[in-house]
Amino acid sequence: GLGRRLYHENVIDHFENPRNVGSFNRNDPNVGTGLVGAPACGDLMSLQIKVDDSGQIIDTRFKTFGCGSAIASSSVASEWIKGKTLDEVMTIKNAEIAKHLRLPPVKLHCSMLAEDAIKSAVRDYKEKQAKTNAAAAEET
Ligand code: FES
Ligand code: FES
Repeated sequence: GLGRRLYHENVIDHFENPRNVGSFNRNDPNVGTGLVGAPACGDLMSLQIKVDDSGQIIDTRFKTFGCGSAIASSSVASEWIKGKTLDEVMTIKNAEIAKHLRLPPVKLHCSMLAEDAIKSAVRDYKEKQAKTNAAAAEET
């Protein structure tokens, strides 16, 4: 079909078989939620990480309301960050995701959404941890 000519097989694969779709409970202290939107097109991406006590991402979920490239980008991101540490995933660049999916220039912002979502999820997790620790300190 049309899509198969325009898009690399990796995009089609992640679009048709997205990994880690869904959501975790946002209130779980071990969960970080990144919610980002693309001003250019209005697409929305939610990426969540579940982190263990050693700072390793043990599971991920995403929901993306957007184009096939955005869905594929978030699916790839959700796979790449699994098993990595918070510091490691902060170095993931949208260019790597775009390269893996062979995104055309007009679709680069779709992969940017995924990079932003990773950073936003890590930030959310760290803020939550800081709050939890502050609350624990008050109790003692
Ligand atoms: Fe149409 Fe993103 S611009 S889905
Ligand atoms: Fe806007 Fe893909 S995220 S077109």
